[in-house]
Amino acid sequence: MSKCTIGLMGLAVMGQNLVLNMEDHGFRVAVFNRTTSKIDDFMNSPEVAGKNRQIVPCYSLKELVENLERPRKVMLMIQSKDPVPAPEVALYPKNAAVDAVIEELLTLLEPGDIIIDGGNTHYKDTERRTKYVESKGLLYIGTGVSGGEEGARKGPSMMPGGSPEAWPAVKEIFQAISAKVGANHDIPCADWVGARGAGHYVKMVHNGIEYGDMQLICEAYWLLKHILGLTNDELYDVFAEWNKGELDSYLIEITRDIFSVKDEKTGNGLVDMILDTAGAKGTGKWMSQLALDLGVPSTLVTEAVYARSLSALKDSRVEASKILPGPKEIPAFTGDKKAFIEAVRKALYASKICSYAQGYVQMRHAAQAEGWELNYGQIALLWRGGCIIRAVFLQRIKDAFDKNPNLDNLLLDEYFRQQVTDAQEAWREVVTAAITHGIPAPGITGALAYYDGFRSANLPANLLQAQRDYFGAHTYRRTDDPAGEVCHTEWIQLRKKPE
Ligand code: 6PG
Repeated sequence: MSKCTIGLMGLAVMGQNLVLNMEDHGFRVAVFNRTTSKIDDFMNSPEVAGKNRQIVPCYSLKELVENLERPRKVMLMIQSKDPVPAPEVALYPKNAAVDAVIEELLTLLEPGDIIIDGGNTHYKDTERRTKYVESKGLLYIGTGVSGGEEGARKGPSMMPGGSPEAWPAVKEIFQAISAKVGANHDIPCADWVGARGAGHYVKMVHNGIEYGDMQLICEAYWLLKHILGLTNDELYDVFAEWNKGELDSYLIEITRDIFSVKDEKTGNGLVDMILDTAGAKGTGKWMSQLALDLGVPSTLVTEAVYARSLSALKDSRVEASKILPGPKEIPAFTGDKKAFIEAVRKALYASKICSYAQGYVQMRHAAQAEGWELNYGQIALLWRGGCIIRAVFLQRIKDAFDKNPNLDNLLLDEYFRQQVTDAQEAWREVVTAAITHGIPAPGITGALAYYDGFRSANLPANLLQAQRDYFGAHTYRRTDDPAGEVCHTEWIQLRKKPE
């Protein structure tokens, strides 16, 4: 029997769907799962049984490896169940199961063979594993795979990084199974991102942007519901309309759909029956932590993570809601409803632009720190289809980086500058309305604060530096000699003595 092109370990739904997708594209796939009953369940599932599919069930890693053509390619889709806290890498959870499988594979594979991790892995693990696997003479790929279960089946966005020599061996498979964009649906959303952990870093930023997008959409919903009193049917229409324009995206589309679903038990909108406590698996938190490490302001993802944390403090919030007052008199909305909906749309769009701008700044700083060469326009194209943040707007980001590959901040690109300029008045109006009504909108207001900070040649950090120097002799630089000596002042001696 002919050997398989690729082997996949981990037959949870994502793994199964990737296997079916690969097989649909003519690749013969060997499959293995630790709980072997899952292999039989998969082989007996309606998608596989009796379909004459080129899928070879294997009941050990050894058997999987023996069924592969050279160079062998083994893809791991191992879910991180209970991340093991590793003291030496306390910042991030390490999926010990992946390390254990790598160890086992190293005893079975040969130099030149390729191990691929398709999970949501912290990039530092991928950096470490790439170096380790390469030191054994093998090649390693850590790839972001986005698009959820449906994406895995029909065409995900793929963000591979690792050993560059491994890319030619998997390129055909990844590009065949990925989503396609462009007028002729022939541009694959899968391309090489960069060395070692670069692919997983870019996937993490994708997820952080996903957090930001979702938070901004939730805030828009809350403002429309509470200021204008829109019903779910009306919200459906608003999101349907928004999805036809600049905001056209997967997340706006599914939000529209959500407003149309009724709860079978009560007949209410299902969204109204869902407890308002958000969960998270942690990739947004990683992005925020790493932004702090790099000293770059990725405020949108951070606000989004905190908004989820605050939502989870349900009991405290319920107690506080009985005690803490909001604005004394909430004015009834008397203005033009349609105009306010349009203002919210503009505020959402401008905030979204800031969020992507921040994500790209973070990637650029990370690339500098880690020695990756990232192609930012290409990354926008990888996200153009297949993934959760897929949106028409990403083409604009591609265009911006095509025009200027060294673009410092997306906000400085002509198109985006024009968009935020057009949205500015509406954005401020919406932030004001949120504050007046006592409605929390940390994403939209935080984005505006970022915008106003970024466009300020001068900030009050002069006073901050004076304070630091006053109490801790932390020194400062002078405006008339910015590159010169650091200065220190004996503030206590020079100050005006208090009466
Ligand atoms: C994707 C998603 C996916 C992620 C979920 C859940 O690109 O397909 O980003 O990888 O696991 O969105 O993330 P949270 O549980 O952290 O919201």
